[in-house]
Amino acid sequence: MALIGRENELAVLKSRVDSSAKGKGRLVFLKGEAGMGKTRLLSELRSYCDASGITFLQGRCYSASFPYSPWTEAINDFVRRTDAQTLTSLCQGPAVEITSLIPSLVTIIGASPKKNMGLKEWVGGPKTLLPSPAVGASGTSAEDAGRLALFEGVTQFFLNLSKKKPVVLVLEDLQHADNATIIMLRYMTRHIFEHRLLIVGTFREEELDQSHQLSQLVRDFEKEALSDTVKLDALSREAVLQFVRDLTGRTEHLEEVADTLYSTTRGNPFFVVETVRSLTEQDIIKKDSVDYGRLRSTALPSSVRALLRQRLERLEPECVELIGLASIIGPDFDQEVLLGASGLPEASVLNHLETGLKVGLIRERPVHRGFRLEFADPRLRRIVQDDVSTIRKRKLHNKIAECLEKTYSENLNEHLEEISYHYVESGNAKKAIQFLLLAAQRAASTHAYDEAIRHYRSVMELSEDPSVDKQAADRIEALQQLIEAWRRTLQKAAEMITIDDYSSVAERYDANYVPLFEPLARRVVEMAELHEGESVLDVGTGTGLAAFLAAKLVGPTGRVLGVDLSDGMLSVATKKSRDSQYRNMEFKKMDETSLELPDNSFDAVISNLGLSRYNVDMGFKETYRVLKPGGTLVFSEWTNKRDPFSPVLREILDKHKTRNPSPLLAGTREAETSFFQFYERVTDRSVLKRMLTDMGFQKVLSSIVEHKSVRTTPDHSLKIIQSHPFLAPELVEMSPEDREAFMREFAQAIAPAFTPTGLVLDWELNYFKAYK
Ligand SMILES: Nc1ncnc2c1ncn2[C@@H]1O[C@H](COP(=O)(O)OP(=O)(O)OP(=O)(O)O)[C@@H](O)[C@H]1O
Ligand SMILES: [Mg+2]
Repeated sequence: MALIGRENELAVLKSRVDSSAKGKGRLVFLKGEAGMGKTRLLSELRSYCDASGITFLQGRCYSASFPYSPWTEAINDFVRRTDAQTLTSLCQGPAVEITSLIPSLVTIIGASPKKNMGLKEWVGGPKTLLPSPAVGASGTSAEDAGRLALFEGVTQFFLNLSKKKPVVLVLEDLQHADNATIIMLRYMTRHIFEHRLLIVGTFREEELDQSHQLSQLVRDFEKEALSDTVKLDALSREAVLQFVRDLTGRTEHLEEVADTLYSTTRGNPFFVVETVRSLTEQDIIKKDSVDYGRLRSTALPSSVRALLRQRLERLEPECVELIGLASIIGPDFDQEVLLGASGLPEASVLNHLETGLKVGLIRERPVHRGFRLEFADPRLRRIVQDDVSTIRKRKLHNKIAECLEKTYSENLNEHLEEISYHYVESGNAKKAIQFLLLAAQRAASTHAYDEAIRHYRSVMELSEDPSVDKQAADRIEALQQLIEAWRRTLQKAAEMITIDDYSSVAERYDANYVPLFEPLARRVVEMAELHEGESVLDVGTGTGLAAFLAAKLVGPTGRVLGVDLSDGMLSVATKKSRDSQYRNMEFKKMDETSLELPDNSFDAVISNLGLSRYNVDMGFKETYRVLKPGGTLVFSEWTNKRDPFSPVLREILDKHKTRNPSPLLAGTREAETSFFQFYERVTDRSVLKRMLTDMGFQKVLSSIVEHKSVRTTPDHSLKIIQSHPFLAPELVEMSPEDREAFMREFAQAIAPAFTPTGLVLDWELNYFKAYK
């Protein structure tokens, strides 16, 4: 059937495609309730893309699916129809990271499989006994820098692809999306603005609650104007009339039919199609006439639910039972699995499925090498599911899990979530644990930590079950520690400024803020008196300023490791190092108060305003541990002399800052508050000196140095504020009016202090040097 109505929505989508094809990439959401025609509209868009030589890729989210499913589906589909040479060229550079998501690419492009850091190494600290072989045995990466590399890799893959031809990437049914999918979307959206890539994400609005990661993303992006939303509303009365005409193939006056349909279906296309089908089945709409008498006297189902119920009632009990079983499998299911789990002869299963298809309860969805079946409407699945008794459900879940295991034995990796879901629901704790651990391991290997934690939590709950043996319980204890360590690291990362939300801040920080610190970093590196071949650790490296200076001095035989907690900063640092001539440096996300590094391994530890203020003793202790005997620690820190404009800035900020901070901004504020709580302590030279000596450092020296820091114009000052780790997030979340007022008022307040040569701030810093 031709597309009816939706001219405006289609025009908007086409114009987005056109402008993205000209290098103005963007994210567009297409939202609407179930059956409103999102998928239908996109198939129209696909034809448009095909005709315009635009690559169209599509992937979908499922409930209980593995992390990143829409991404993998879209990429896999593309991989299958593309030759090895093209794929190899698309996976150049950072894009090769995509292989950790799509392992089949490794053999196609002839890349060497990546060796990732093990879970154990990542968690570090006490030598946790990890459950084996499920977790920690193979090289899974849980390092957050690895996650960034993956995001960057996937993004780069699409950008490489978009250099050949413009790309439209559709991610369907995001209401089922896992967190990893959303975080990846968050990341990628910020990197496509100047590229020929349009991302379209669809979701059912009514199924999204406020706490869903997607809701948060939509809110954030709307605030920042990073995405547009197209909403599919109900069809107009005219469109419903056209539907009736097209569906019945007739052109006579069908206004009355259309009116009846419009008022019962309230313009939902799926509902319209199904009601017309019903009326035709009941012979109310006939080949050449309409039985108006019966049309008026028949009570039409007033909801999709009622309509579907009516339809079910007309089916044979065995058929309804089979559909009930399918509903337990999931929103979509494989015919083989259904056959296996039903225990019915193949012929009857086929028969019932045909009936289901014919009466529009289920539909076929083409997938690679065949098709899957799915419920035509989510409400139908719920109806039949509710009709299955709890006892029967448990049994069915177990049977389904076994069938899934058998059916997908060659390809278990993509079905671990599904299988563990069914074992959990069946009450088979042992099996559930087995698959949850595998699912967690796989999730962690692709940096989908939220999912991994969720699986581990379920494992812990299930371990209470008496059927789980004692030995396993010990492992669970270890797991508990693992989760805790993980959670802390993640939380910490969220408190700091993370790339996911503030990557643009990191880039601005690098452009505007870092140059101000360059003289300071130079002094630190000079004081460290580095030699060729030495190993250096740069703590709180930020975007890598001191690390770069050090890398130059230690030369190709030396090595520099920069560590930081901020993903955003690290990503900029990593990018810069890739673009530079230095191959002797590396950046990693690490907490300086628990460095995952061996004892006695560095000749020097340097830090330019990067030492932890929160837990400075622990920072010193760790530094001492990783330094070789005789190694040097050099760092800079502020004195307690404050910038005279700070109070003015605070006052104006307090007036304009948002009262509804996102969790991330709330975390930043907290981090800032505690930063200033500790400020007194870390700016006091004698306190730091004593700490260093107590820790075992020798020959502790310190000196105060003044630097002149120049702001050329008030505008320059504003730029710096916009790049400040604590202030920039405030600006991001201010309303546009407040942001503008804030900038204006601050510029006015400082303007009088400017002379033609600018404004000179006297910075005062403490420099420390100590030996192990
Ligand atoms: N504008 C339209 N013109 C013709 N047919 C349409 C139109 N909109 C929807 N349909 C038909 O209505 C039915 C439901 O549409 P579709 O599957 O696209 O809905 P959806 O919004 O994707 O729903 P879901 O959220 O369940 O995925 C399909 O049979 C589709 O072909
Ligand atoms: Mg759809």
